[in-house]
Amino acid sequence: MLIPKLQMALDNYELPSALGPLQKAHEHIDIIEAGTILCLAEGMHAVRILRSLYPHKPILADVRIAEAGSLIAKMAFEAGASWVSVVSGATLTTVDAVLNQAARWQGEVQVELIDPWTYEQAREWRAMGVQQIITHRSRDAEAKGQQTWSAQDLDDIRRLADMGFLVTVTGGVTLEDIPRFAGAPVGIFIAGRAIRDADDPALAARAFQEAIARTFAPTTA
Ligand code: 5RP
Repeated sequence: MLIPKLQMALDNYELPSALGPLQKAHEHIDIIEAGTILCLAEGMHAVRILRSLYPHKPILADVRIAEAGSLIAKMAFEAGASWVSVVSGATLTTVDAVLNQAARWQGEVQVELIDPWTYEQAREWRAMGVQQIITHRSRDAEAKGQQTWSAQDLDDIRRLADMGFLVTVTGGVTLEDIPRFAGAPVGIFIAGRAIRDADDPALAARAFQEAIARTFAPTTA
C-alpha cells in the first residue's frame, strides 16, 4: 500500500506570513505548495523564493491553468516549480501545451478536478501523459456546509489510481479526516490551514505524518 505524502499549502496573501509557518514545519512535510492565493498575490516571485530556500523539496505552483498553458507553465517552471496545476475545464490543447512545457523542465502536471468532469476526459489526460490528479473539496462547497468526504470521493480516488494517476486529496483536510481514507490509494494529502494556522505548525505537520502512518502503514499479520 502506498504511503501518502504530505503537502503543505501556502494560500497566504503575502509571502512573509507563509514563510514563518513553513520554516517551522518544513522538516515534517514532503512537498511545498505555492497556493493559488499566494501565486495571485505575489506572482512567481513567491515560487522563486521558495525554491531558493528549499532547493530539494518538490514545489507545486498551484496556478490552476485554464488558458495560455504554455506561457503560464513556463513562468512557473522557470521560477523553480516542480509541478504545475491545470483545471479540468481546460481544453486538451491547453493541457497538451502544459505537458510540453513540463517535459522541457522535467516537471509534472496535476489536473485539478472541478465539477463537471468525466472519466472520458480522465482517460484522455492519462493517455496524453498527465501523471497526477487532484481531487478537491472546494472552499466554496465547504463554506456551504459540505463537511465530509463522500463514498463517491473514495470511489473516484480508487478508479483514478487504477488508471495510473497519482491522486492528491485536498480541500480543508484535517487530522480527523485522514482515517476516512484508510484503504484508499491516496498519493498525497494537502493540508493548508490545518498546518499553517496551527499554534505550532511543526507539531501539526508531525501529527499529520503520524496519522498518515497509522492509517496507511502496512500491518504485520
Ligand atoms: C484549494 C487549494 C488549497 O491549497 C487546498 O485546499 C489546501 O488548503 P486548505 O487545507 O487550507 O483547504 O488548492 O483548492
